[in-house]
Amino acid sequence: MSSAHPSSDIAACEVAASRQNILHLPSVRALGVQLVAAAVPVVAAIAWAALDMPALPLVVWALVQGLIAATLAYLLAMDRWWLWIHLLFAPALVLVALTGLPPWLFLFGFFLLFLVHGATYRTQVPTHLSRREAIAAVVKLLPSQPGFSCIDLGCGFGGVLGALARSRCDGKYYGIEGALLPFVASWIRGRIDGYQTRWGNLWDVDLAGYDVVYAYLSPAAMPRLWEKAQREMRPDAVLISNNFLIPETSPTFTINVDKRKGAVVYLWRIGDSKC
Ligand SMILES: C[S@@+](CC[C@H](N)C(=O)[O-])C[C@H]1O[C@@H](n2cnc3c(N)ncnc32)[C@H](O)[C@@H]1O
Repeated sequence: MSSAHPSSDIAACEVAASRQNILHLPSVRALGVQLVAAAVPVVAAIAWAALDMPALPLVVWALVQGLIAATLAYLLAMDRWWLWIHLLFAPALVLVALTGLPPWLFLFGFFLLFLVHGATYRTQVPTHLSRREAIAAVVKLLPSQPGFSCIDLGCGFGGVLGALARSRCDGKYYGIEGALLPFVASWIRGRIDGYQTRWGNLWDVDLAGYDVVYAYLSPAAMPRLWEKAQREMRPDAVLISNNFLIPETSPTFTINVDKRKGAVVYLWRIGDSKC
């Protein structure tokens, strides 16, 4: 039976979709795998004690948990590197606990990582920096006419924007960054090199106002970035991606930055790819 209020249908669909999205986040799936895998050794350890069996070291139960978690991850077809994380996570926890290091050290490490990389459990894009050779390739791809505008989506510490602004000072450069420490660094750098940095979510930026959109994100972000670029960018604007290809598209240009390391910069002219 259809609802009398289409807007409530839409709202219900959006809630269902966002719930589904959360369940599809690799970090949420990983947490689920760890918890399910932990249940088995916990029950087994209780039964073991009830049967008056000789006590086993905690690391043995942790290894059992790791083996179960890695098997579950394999059955769920998670990426191969997740299997190692699942296998070693609980044993590593137990071994580190045995070192007697103060707990605040781990909290400090967590906050430091969070400040540098931001909410990677959600964005699936950590902070790593474009190489000098890739930036040199981007300089060659900038429009020849002066006054063009260029944005770096997820500008990190501002290395790309600073280098572009110094090489082609006839352009206007903007950055958006979601992680606090890189944002602060890029904001300060922008005061010196002459570009602007905003703190925020790159998915909220309207791309219509830019001639060049540069992104160095991750494979997970590329399909969504492509949809957004096609929806918002002007036909004569270009999208440049460092290293990550958009599935099922042919870039207008490809520059092999470093053949030995397989580093590549791709450019799509939006008008060439729109139907
Ligand atoms: C691979 S780094 C690239 C940094 C810089 N563009 C470069 O090429 O050197 C990606 C950056 O995007 C940022 N980022 C990821 N998702 C974001 C989001 N949704 N909103 C804003 N920034 C984001 C990360 O914090 C990270 O600094």
